[in-house]
Amino acid sequence: MTAPRDRRFDEATYAGKLPASVRAEVLRDLQGTPRTLPPKLFYDARGAQLFEEICELDEYYLTRSELTILRERVDEIAALIGPQAVLVEYGSGAGVKVRMLLDALEAPAAYVPIDISTTQLASVSYELGHQYPGLAIHPIGADFTAPLKLPPLPSTGRRVAFFPGSTIGNFHPAEAAAFLGRVRRTLGANGAMVLGVDRRKDPARLEAAYDDARGVTAAFNLNMLARLNRDMGADFDLTAFRHRAPWNDEASRIEMHLESLRNQTVHIDGTTIRFARGETIWTESSYKYDAERLETVVTSAGFELSRLWSDANDDFWLTYLEVSARG
Ligand code: AVJ
Repeated sequence: MTAPRDRRFDEATYAGKLPASVRAEVLRDLQGTPRTLPPKLFYDARGAQLFEEICELDEYYLTRSELTILRERVDEIAALIGPQAVLVEYGSGAGVKVRMLLDALEAPAAYVPIDISTTQLASVSYELGHQYPGLAIHPIGADFTAPLKLPPLPSTGRRVAFFPGSTIGNFHPAEAAAFLGRVRRTLGANGAMVLGVDRRKDPARLEAAYDDARGVTAAFNLNMLARLNRDMGADFDLTAFRHRAPWNDEASRIEMHLESLRNQTVHIDGTTIRFARGETIWTESSYKYDAERLETVVTSAGFELSRLWSDANDDFWLTYLEVSARG
C-alpha cells in the first residue's frame, strides 16, 4: 500500500481542469448522505475509451441489442422522421449509431452533437463533417444533464432528439421526466425523439453486465477516482476501493458503487473526507424499464410513445416518441 500523498490543493495547478461548478458539486456530493459522485465524471479521455471497451464485452448486451434493433428499423425510423431533419444527439460518444441514422435519412440538414467528452466530440464532428458534406454540424461540449441553451436550430425538417444507449437510465425517474420535458420544449411541436431504453430482466444478467469477468467495468468505475486525483489534486488510493454493482429490485436499477476497503482519509480540494470500512461512493444508477414505468416517464414529459421495437431476446427497446398534441 502506498502512503497517501500529502498534497495541498493548489489553485493554479488545478484551475481549469474541471469547471468550478463541477468541483463544488464533487465536494458536495462526496460529503452527502449517501456519498455520491456524478456519472458524467466517468468520461475523461480514458473513461470514454474504457466505455468503448465495455460495449464490446460479452456480458454487456446493451450496445449489441440496440444496434441490432437500429439496423432492422432504421429505414422505418427515417421514413417517420422525413426529409431535412435537424438531429440533436444527447451524449454523442463515438458516433457509430448516428452514422446509421444519417445514412438512412433523406437529406438531413443539421446535426447537433452534445457531449461532455470534448476530445471525442471534436474528432467525431471533424470526421462527420467530411463524410456528410451537406450536413451542418454544431458540436456542443456540455453536460446535457443540466439545462442548456442550444444555438438557433434551422427550421428545415422535423427536429429530432437522438438519445440511444439507455443513458436515460442514469436519471432517477423524476429527473428522467424533467430531462425529457426539457428536450420536448427544445424540439417544439412536431418534434420527435429516438430513445434507447434497457429493459428489466434476470438480475444475474444485469449484475454480470455491470461487473464483467475481465474487470473492465471495475476499471471504468475506479477511473473516476484516478480522474479526481489528476484533475482536483485528490489523494484517493485506488487499491483501497473496490467496484460493486448490485441490483436494486424495488427501485429497478443497477447501482454502481466504490466501496472503501478500510477506514481511511482522503484529501480533496482542501477538504478532508473520512471513509469507514465498507462505506461506499455511489457513482451511477442504471434504471431498467418495463412498459408501465416507461409509459409513465414518457407521458409525464409530454411525449407519446408512438413506436416501440425490441430485439429477438426482449432485452432492449428502441422507441420513437412524438411530442404530444396536448404537450
Ligand atoms: C452509457 C449510461 C448507458 O448505464 O449502461 C456501462 C454506462 N456504466 N457500464 C449504462 C455504464 C457501466 C451505461 N450508459
